[in-house]
Order: sequence, then structure tokens, then C-alpha cells
Amino acid sequence: MAHAAARAPRSPALTQAEAAAEALRRGQLVILPTETVYGLAADAGNAEAVARLFEAKGRPRFNPLIAHVADMGAAERLTVFDSRARALAAAFWPGPLTLVAPLREGAGVCDLARAGLNTVAVRVPAHGLAGEVLRAFGGALVAPSANRSGRPSPTTVEDAREETGSAAAVVLDGGPCLVGLESTVVAALDGKLRLLRPGAVTRAEVEAAGGALLEGKADAKRSPGRLALHYAPDAPVRLNAEGPGPGEAFLAFGPAPQGPRVWSLSPGRDLREAAANLFALLRTADRTRPRAIAVAPVPDEGLGEAINDRLRRAAGWVG
Ligand code: TXA
Ligand code: MG
Repeated sequence: MAHAAARAPRSPALTQAEAAAEALRRGQLVILPTETVYGLAADAGNAEAVARLFEAKGRPRFNPLIAHVADMGAAERLTVFDSRARALAAAFWPGPLTLVAPLREGAGVCDLARAGLNTVAVRVPAHGLAGEVLRAFGGALVAPSANRSGRPSPTTVEDAREETGSAAAVVLDGGPCLVGLESTVVAALDGKLRLLRPGAVTRAEVEAAGGALLEGKADAKRSPGRLALHYAPDAPVRLNAEGPGPGEAFLAFGPAPQGPRVWSLSPGRDLREAAANLFALLRTADRTRPRAIAVAPVPDEGLGEAINDRLRRAAGWVG
């Protein structure tokens, strides 16, 4: 084992991040942990790699991807931010906020990644391992959630591997995602802010840092990826349920009633905890092959807006 002993000792995380960055440079795909959900990452400038990514997810090509970068400087090389976008970035990055802004000329985000739009979605993730990979790679990585299109987002490395692991050259284990819900997507265009997707940063938090949002409701028409049936397990999802019907699994909010196939999103009715548990519990319930997954009502305030958005889409309710 002389050759192994002769190697310089390196931090295992750094070695992993460098190996991932090399695979990405070769045009391969990498499962990347973030604080929100696991992503399936590709070099944003490599159209062939991005085409493979769309294929691996079975994602419609009209649905653009988020470019992930290491810091604000790298974000401003891709986009042109106005003062409100800058205020939001300063308040929430690194963290679960995505900003859609005009594409800067010469930015290395290929057409396919943007679905041909002249805007680009950017975020700086807060996960340490994601940051290391981005710094080792040195450019922008597109990373949609690592589920196959339409399925619940993966919040553990096991779930990510089950969804798209076969397409990834490297799978990075960053532990369970602390937030568990995707980033909030806000468009900063024409001097106005619009909420395109409710997410981990609440509407009130966005407005406190960036000023009023233009519309009351999340603006699905302007965000090509907001499909009616999304985040969906195999079993049908029944919302606003008081308890499980025959053959159903049940996700409570608050103390869980007695019974088989019953879980609680948060026994203490904490929305943050419910957000972190949502996708993992939908998957756990689904694995028991229930007739349906019944879910208790979740208050529509704060993070509840994003939780209810995902639940309505999992149930196929949103047009
Ligand atoms: O938390 C997250 O955002 C995760 C992690 C992995 O970072 N990623 C994620 O990516 O949720 P994805 O691809 O599942 O969702 C991206 C959303 C879609 O709704 C897409 O339509 C929207 O962002 N989007 C991307 N670029 C856009 C653009 N130029 N204009 C409007 N919407 C855009
Ligand atoms: Mg997704």
C-alpha cells in the first residue's frame, strides 16, 4: 500500500468537490446537495450536457433552469441586476432565493438552459458542499431538482439517487436538506418585482427586503415551469383531509392520530418543520402503496404558502 501512503492527505470533502468539478467540466452530470433540495447539476455553458440533463429528468424543454453560482460577483457576470434585485441578493444570498433578471451579453448560460428566454434565473446556494463544487468548477452550474420531471423533489441523497442517480457520474452526499422546499423565484424585470414561485423565503420576507411585489398571486404564466401536475407521488393526493379514509395513508399537521400509515408533517404545527418533512413524507407514504395520500390542512401563512402550492400541484389542482 506504499502508493496510497505516499499521497498527500486531503480533506475528503475537497476531494469530492474537485472530482465533481472535473466531471462537470467533462460534460457529465452530478447530483449536488443544496440547502433546499438535491439538484442534478450540469455545466450551464455546455449545451450537450444540458440536453442530457433535460433527458435524464424527462423535462419539457420549454422549462428553463436555474444557474447556480458561488457568489454575487459571479451572478452579476450572468445578469443585469437593478437596485431591488441587488437588495434581495444582499438580504438572502447565499440562500434559498432565485432571481430572474435580464441576461448579460456573453454570459455563459446556453440557450437551451434558458429555454431561449433573454432572462436568466440565478441563485447562490447556502450548502457548504455546493459552494465548494461551485468554487472548484469556477462557473455557473444549472441544477434543477434531481427528481424526474413531475415527481416530488428529493431531500435526501437516497431519494436523489433513486430518481436520477443512473444519469449522474458523481453523487455527492450532503446529508438531508435542511429547508426541504425549493427556492422562492422572484423576477426583477422593468423595475418591478414579481413572485414566480413561492418557496423557502416567504412573501413577507421578500417584501421586507425588496419592497412590494407586483401581483398578489404567484405569477404562473410568467414562469414556464409551473405545471399543473408536479411534485406528485404515484398515489393520488387528497387535500384538506380530517383523517385517512379506507386504504389511505395520512399526513397530519399537528399530533398524528393513531393508526397505520400515519405520519405528521409537524407534531408541534411548525411550518418550517413541515416544509422540511413534506417531500420525504410524501415519498414515505407513497412507498406503502396506499389508495391515496390524505393530507391535513396546512395554514396558508408564511411558509404555508409554498407548502400549499406544492400540495395543490401534487394533487393536480393548479391550472
Ligand atoms: O431550490 C431550488 O431552486 C432547486 C435547487 C436544486 O437549487 N432548484 C429548482 O430548480 O427548484 P427547478 O428547475 O426544479 O425549478 C426552476 C424554476 C422553474 O419553475 C422554472 O420555470 C423557473 O425556475 N425559471 C427558471 N428560469 C426562468 C426564467 N428565465 N424565467 C422565469 N422562470 C424561470
Ligand atoms: Mg423541480
